Amino acid sequence: MTLDALFLALLIVSSFISIDVGYCKFTLQLLTVFLIANFLSLADGLIVIALYIAMGLIGIPVFAGFGGGIAYAASPTFGFVYGFFFVILLNHLFSDVLLKRMGNELWKSLIGSSVSLIALYAVGFTHGYLILTLLKGKSDLTLGAAFGLFIAPYIPFDIAKFVIASFITSRYVNVLLPSRRIHFNEIDSTNTYLKKNYLVYKNLSFVDASYQKKGKGRLGRKWEADKDESLMFSVLIKDKKLLQNAPILSLVAGSAVFKYLSQIGLKNVSIKWPNDIYVNGKKICGILLESVSHEKVDAVIIGIGLNVNQETFPEGFYRTPTSIRLETGSTMDLRDIKKDLYRIIKEEILSLKEGRSDYVKVINENNYLKDEKCFCTYKGEKKEIKVLRIDDEGDLVGIIDGDEKKIISDEITFE
Ligand code: BTN
Repeated sequence: MTLDALFLALLIVSSFISIDVGYCKFTLQLLTVFLIANFLSLADGLIVIALYIAMGLIGIPVFAGFGGGIAYAASPTFGFVYGFFFVILLNHLFSDVLLKRMGNELWKSLIGSSVSLIALYAVGFTHGYLILTLLKGKSDLTLGAAFGLFIAPYIPFDIAKFVIASFITSRYVNVLLPSRRIHFNEIDSTNTYLKKNYLVYKNLSFVDASYQKKGKGRLGRKWEADKDESLMFSVLIKDKKLLQNAPILSLVAGSAVFKYLSQIGLKNVSIKWPNDIYVNGKKICGILLESVSHEKVDAVIIGIGLNVNQETFPEGFYRTPTSIRLETGSTMDLRDIKKDLYRIIKEEILSLKEGRSDYVKVINENNYLKDEKCFCTYKGEKKEIKVLRIDDEGDLVGIIDGDEKKIISDEITFE
């Protein structure tokens, strides 16, 4: 909302900066419209344009050169104003649908903006031509002359505007993106939501839901939790440096959940590398890391399910579940947990970025499987493993077939 108001104000101010040359009005409006198309969602972009036009038509002098009033609709240049709707629509059609998979923000914006500029010209030209020939008595106006009036003089300036807007967008798209914390009463899966919408949210955005209809667990399993009983949330990672450490992110998230549970007084909390948190030998939290990749990894989503107040669980859980309530006997306020956990996770992720994370130490000191012999599937074969530690890269070190091996998380599943 704040961003919408900011762009509406910018649109008005940029319309005031206007130089009139005959029928031509050189303004900075279009630069703002391209920015609106790039930074706001489709709905918000259309709303800002609709509000701007409505303000102008009811008489507030917001159009180019302080124009306003219902009569402005019959001015030859009004087509270039309602044509802004097409700029917003086409830009979104390109960036959100047709070029969705293109990783390069700059090219995406340049292509979308150039097509939408052509559409704007088509609308502005048709409107201007019809107004001049039908209403203003210039029936002898040729199409060529109209082109010279309404289009030709603007072309170099308008191209400059969308190039500038595209550069600003590609540079600042992650800075101005909206809300960092989003709550849903019901959703299919918070991970799926962020996978689909990662482009429009900032690094470290946080999405939680009271209920997930299609909650996902690791290895294609389901993740089910009763409505408003447990915490289900996802954190979006877009920072380039953090994306280089993608597999470690789930260990860091695990270390954060461990610290939180220890802080609230839970005893016997341990981390089962790479993704689970256990209390007294029962699973209290699972972590699912998913990524969005095109030519490279564009985003990672850390999905966390923490059992909080749930006391009964359906049959058939792969690991025996528990919850904070079952372990402590007290009911907790989900809003408090959300706030504290988000803060701790953010701190832990930033400490990873700054090279001062202690996740290796935390996991090694609280390793659920440490010195345990257990069965696993390693590289597709059933094996017995004695878990030793995790190393500085976050990989597991264990003894399999008498040899010490370094194991990455994709190579192994525990029985
Ligand atoms: C596991 O199998 O242990 C991982 C479970 C991860 C569940 C969380 S709940 C929030 C996020 N959204 C999902 O659909 N899954 C993760």
